Amino acid sequence: MRFVQFIETSQNEYLWVLETQNMGYAFVWNAHRLENVYWGAKLPYPADYLPRELPFDPLGNWNFARNTHEEFPAWGDYKFNEPCLKVRFGDGVRACLLDYRDATISENGAVTTLTIHLQDEHYPLRVRLIYNIYADYDLIVRRAEIENVGGEAVEIEQILSAAWHLPQRDAYQLTSLSGKWGGEFQLQRVELPRGKQIIERRRGSTGFDSNPFFALADGLAQEDDGEVWFGALAFSGNYKIVIERDAFEHVNVSGGIHDFDFRWRLDAGETFVTPNFVAGYTAAGYGAASRALHAYELEHVVPRATARQPRPIVYNSWYVTEFDVSLENQEKAAELAAKMGVELFVMDDGWFGQRNTDRAGLGDWYVNRDKFPSGLAPLINRVNELGMEFGIWVEPEMVNPDSDLYRAHPDWVYHFPNRPLSTGRNQYVLNVARPDVQQFILDFMHDLLGNNNIKFIKWDMNRHFSEPGWMDAPEGRDRELWVRHTRGVYAIFRQLREAYPNVLFESCSGGGGRIDLGIMQYAEQFWMSDNTDPYDDLFIQEGFTLAHAPLTRMMWVTDTNWLNGRSYSLEFRFHLAMMGVLGMGADITRWSQADLDKAAEFVALYKDIRETMQFGAFYRLRSPRESALSAFEFIHPSGREAVVTVFLSQSQFGYFSTNVRLAGLEPNTRYQVDGWDEPWSGQALMQRGLPIALKGAFISKLIRLARV
Ligand code: DGJ
Repeated sequence: MRFVQFIETSQNEYLWVLETQNMGYAFVWNAHRLENVYWGAKLPYPADYLPRELPFDPLGNWNFARNTHEEFPAWGDYKFNEPCLKVRFGDGVRACLLDYRDATISENGAVTTLTIHLQDEHYPLRVRLIYNIYADYDLIVRRAEIENVGGEAVEIEQILSAAWHLPQRDAYQLTSLSGKWGGEFQLQRVELPRGKQIIERRRGSTGFDSNPFFALADGLAQEDDGEVWFGALAFSGNYKIVIERDAFEHVNVSGGIHDFDFRWRLDAGETFVTPNFVAGYTAAGYGAASRALHAYELEHVVPRATARQPRPIVYNSWYVTEFDVSLENQEKAAELAAKMGVELFVMDDGWFGQRNTDRAGLGDWYVNRDKFPSGLAPLINRVNELGMEFGIWVEPEMVNPDSDLYRAHPDWVYHFPNRPLSTGRNQYVLNVARPDVQQFILDFMHDLLGNNNIKFIKWDMNRHFSEPGWMDAPEGRDRELWVRHTRGVYAIFRQLREAYPNVLFESCSGGGGRIDLGIMQYAEQFWMSDNTDPYDDLFIQEGFTLAHAPLTRMMWVTDTNWLNGRSYSLEFRFHLAMMGVLGMGADITRWSQADLDKAAEFVALYKDIRETMQFGAFYRLRSPRESALSAFEFIHPSGREAVVTVFLSQSQFGYFSTNVRLAGLEPNTRYQVDGWDEPWSGQALMQRGLPIALKGAFISKLIRLARV
């Protein structure tokens, strides 16, 4: 097949070469192990990939250097890598030795799949390593499947998706994303030290403090140049990515479901499938790495049915009304939003049960009749009459202790007997590992979506797991809850999406606490942060777009930012919010007519450039971390239009004047640039740059370029 070459190098020794447009990836079965021999720039001849090493025996017979380059190290013999697989067989043996059996290759559209079949040398346990090769994006998506083909249960103690091995270099720089509530996706770049670096999550969901993404680059890599190896894990529960550099300069990355407090009973005949772990290589810098992920997400990850639909402009009154929603205040806001050109009106928290504060009502998914005496219909009808679709907020995985649901089913929350149970935001976590809890969620969601004209769900999740007891779990399965919860949420999404194919979903978790390629398969978009301060969002956006496409990023224009207490011009707020999916969350009932008119102009402008902002190729031209002036560029998929956004935090000693060098344009094509009479060539815009001169504080500009 085109992207996989298989070579028998000698008896019982084989080489596989996986090639994409610019990347080569090779491993061998060397009669003992499946070992990686290369990952990096594509090499001219298949023989270039053969292992070529000088005799290397660092410590003589002592042989302490036992970090193998295995594609999927199973634990149990004389090696000390982070294992991808650790099991305990029925007879108590805890060592697993995998032997090669077979390999199969298939093609399906843009994807070539190589499957390596392994089997334990003695026990009836099969392992399949699956490599999906996305040649156009220089990406490989890996997962593993473990099948118990015997008659006795096997206990899995650790199961990662893949191990990736990097070529030997003098030094690597590790980029990871870490943050906090209101400050998600902070980019962190350090020289990779010896030892293990762990990007992990042990609180039940993806989280703010880290994101399952990594990039390793040689020391010279920049945004637009240099070698970068990068990857992202598609899982929204406990995960870990272990990056290891040993004393022999071997660097490898392994990742998957976290082994912390994890056990899985694999009964006879059962198969365990790991989450996908996508990784790639580029010689064109961090920007190219991001664009490869963005393109893959748009083409293969975001829900297929709506993948190419332009995302609507949203209005949401959360910051204005909080829990105090009513028919009157929602209608009033809806009328103004509609006039402005908003397309989807979303009612946030507070519409159900006794939900007047965050201390009560969560879990009671019936309409609060004090606030909506005739149910949701009058509001939805009014919103529809105004020409908008209607969306609504839910938080299905949680419950307030002060709720009918908790009073009826105290056993439905994670808890340990004889131990106090902590609340977070005054709520407990429902045990979504339980089939009856999954059914409860499905039932009320069917009720909501089946009986109302609802076209959008904002699915929130506002606390971390603690006291994760599942006391009445089936025998030996209580620690499966970490995985079963996430799989349960995915299964609910799958069923709802199937039943309501035209409903869009947004994943929210107290801001950007559940954003990853796992939940991206089920939710069109993410609420990036509760922090809507546009200057802060420049930083959050930079980190977010390292791994995630702008199409999946929702941000609102709000009033004076409550977090930093700063005020911004409408223009600055709109320009920031337009860099992805545009939303509005301000108290527009208090806006002047002049501001409402100006906002309507921005909304109209956004509609005009929406395809470029949502589906275009995205370039980070200048980082807010490095300069008072940051700049970004979006290029329409057809190349016919580009949009540049420029943000100045503050000028000093007069104008901040510079040339912003653009990227990704066709060098010999001429572009008409907003504000300039003569067209410029793409090459001139990329080499000389676009002159920008701004002064003041928090000033922005949006510049359109049209191909002549
Ligand atoms: C947290 C979300 O991030 C907010 O946007 C809002 O939906 C609140 N939850 C509602 O409780």
